[in-house]
Amino acid sequence: MAVMREIRNIVILTGAGISAESGIDTFRGAGGLWENHRVEDVATPEAFARDPQLVLRFYDMRREAIQTRQPNAAHTALARLDAEWPGDLLIVTQNVDDLHERGGARRVLHMHGEHLKAWCTRCDSRHAWSDPLVDRPPCPKCGARSLRPDVVWFGEVPYHMDRIYRALREADLFVSIGTSGAVYPAAGFVQNARELGARTLELNLEPSQGSRLFHESRLGPASELVPAWVDELLAG
Ligand code: OAD
Ligand code: ZN
Repeated sequence: MAVMREIRNIVILTGAGISAESGIDTFRGAGGLWENHRVEDVATPEAFARDPQLVLRFYDMRREAIQTRQPNAAHTALARLDAEWPGDLLIVTQNVDDLHERGGARRVLHMHGEHLKAWCTRCDSRHAWSDPLVDRPPCPKCGARSLRPDVVWFGEVPYHMDRIYRALREADLFVSIGTSGAVYPAAGFVQNARELGARTLELNLEPSQGSRLFHESRLGPASELVPAWVDELLAG
């Protein structure tokens, strides 16, 4: 049996697959968001400059939809792990929904931003936001009609990268949940963590693009795999 490093510090990367069973569309594959929308039309700074109404309407619909959805068993299991795990733990999510937080998790970073925040590009302030942006409401701070969704678009730099790489350096265990491994830099985290000595585990409905980079891959729905894995980990 291989000697395993004791697990103290954990980094968990989540993607759209963890929210799929809550009724939030994933991006790729059948029925995914990118099947009906061209990324270049709605999720780039160029698209926003060209047709702000189209982009704002797209995000208004998504913002409205997530507010009708509820966390599932995978979110609440991670929240339990967060509450009970004595070592360092960081949930890095690519998701822009707030289901980790509503499920009760606290140590969460949104590397691709959040639907429920607006960012004023005039004064660089950020505001909790649940209403539409398409009618260009004024910024609560400076009054400019310069609010955009606080979501990272293609071609923009993801948030919190310094903190994420620091956590990956310290990680004994890296777990990837419900992500296709198609978008960098998140898709590269498994290699970063593994090179630095972490054990790596994937929990996904089907093998992701980087499946073979993981020490172990478990296939199935997140609502079943995640609670089972959390039970196992907390049982020691
Ligand atoms: P994807 O839609 O690319 O991948 C979702 C993954 O979840 C797939 O591998 C599915 O097999 C898996 N999956 C689906 N249902 C599942 C379930 N019930 N349980 C477990 N796994 C399930 O979504 P992401 O990988 O999150 O970025 O996409 C990454 C980024 O690409 C997103 O953050 C977004 C997107 O374009 C930006 O918008 C910047
Ligand atoms: Zn402002």
